[in-house]
Amino acid sequence: MSVLVTGGTGFIGSHTVVELQEAGYDVVVIDNLSNSSEKSLERVEEITGKPVKFYKIDIRDREGLNEVFAKEPDIDSCIHFAGLKAVGESVEKPWEYYENNISGTLVLLDVMKKHGVKNIIFSSSCTVYGDPDKVPVTEDTPKKWATNPYGSTKSMQETIFADIQHADPEWNIVLLRYFNPIGAHPSGRMGEDPNGIPLNLMPYITQVAVGKLPFLRVFGNDFPTHDGTGVRDYIHVVDLAKGHVKALERIKANCGLAVYNLGTGTGYSVLDIVKSFEEATGVNIPYKIMDRRPGDIAENYSDPSKAEREMGWKAEKGIKEMCEDSWRWQKNNPNGYAD
Ligand code: NAD
Ligand code: UD1
Repeated sequence: MSVLVTGGTGFIGSHTVVELQEAGYDVVVIDNLSNSSEKSLERVEEITGKPVKFYKIDIRDREGLNEVFAKEPDIDSCIHFAGLKAVGESVEKPWEYYENNISGTLVLLDVMKKHGVKNIIFSSSCTVYGDPDKVPVTEDTPKKWATNPYGSTKSMQETIFADIQHADPEWNIVLLRYFNPIGAHPSGRMGEDPNGIPLNLMPYITQVAVGKLPFLRVFGNDFPTHDGTGVRDYIHVVDLAKGHVKALERIKANCGLAVYNLGTGTGYSVLDIVKSFEEATGVNIPYKIMDRRPGDIAENYSDPSKAEREMGWKAEKGIKEMCEDSWRWQKNNPNGYAD
């Protein structure tokens, strides 16, 4: 049987395709390439030695999706990564975010149902916890209203999935709440390839390291954390990818609706990351303390124990490997997948 991976040419999707193929799954990828390059799949093939079936389509294209299911009758489950994900852009373009992420998911679910496929894993985010009253957060920590449309789409999609599973218990749905994915494939052949100036911390640091940006802007050093800078739960993208393979096993066991945090359980501040990166790579990262970024919270990190208890999944890679692998990718591919 095979797994449909939406958004499979993107950062987390492409790393997950590697882990799926290495675990013996057949994979069918769909993506509209709005935020990625098909080259990521060439690199997947290089690493696994196995071809990846790819269809360039949009998840909102009902006809296109129907054709994929008709051509690929072995698909029995889906991992749904496709979506727009830039927080700031979502504030500027809320309609586009709701339309892409919500409408896209509704079309996908409808076409899946039509073809009798009722197993799906969804890319959710720790953003659904908002600014939590207490850390670490467990899956029972109350969700809070998101501060931006991107976060709202994740929360709303979770609700849609839960209601659909409640109405039709034949659905098996795993909601994975990712913390902060960084790192890259250890081969140095695959990694994160953001458009323009990176918004997230690690790709910004690696671009400073490679000389494309002059210094890191540290957004605030007056948070109530050990050094005043924001604390997050960074997780290696390969560990995250492996979490999806484990989630497929939960689906095979007819899990119904299941929700898991995917994090390491350890919080690092911005300055901890700078220091870890410098130690792991020997490259100096100049930085300047700036004002806080609007909407940023002081700290968030996971209690990932439910995923270990129920899926047998635990993050294995530490901060040193995350920094080394992010750097190897950036150093070998200063322009990402572009020539
Ligand atoms: P990404 O942008 O690299 O991958 C998303 C992929 O979806 C891209 O390849 C894009 O071209 C594709 N896509 C977008 N809209 C589409 C559509 N309508 N039809 C078909 N394809 C479409 O992002 P990523 O970092 O790999 O994230 C994957 C998923 O995980 C996203 O849903 C994101 O919101 C979620 N997530 C990411 C993070 C993170 O920090 N990277 C954290 C939490 C959750
Ligand atoms: C952000 C999003 C979150 C999304 C996640 C995906 C916001 C408010 N939140 O999370 O919804 O799911 O990305 O990975 O955008 N930092 C700097 N300088 C930089 C970049 C970041 O100091 O140039 C700091 C931030 O203030 C924060 C930490 O680094 O304390 C991590 O930032 P980032 O990588 O953007 O992730 P989040 O803000 O946690």
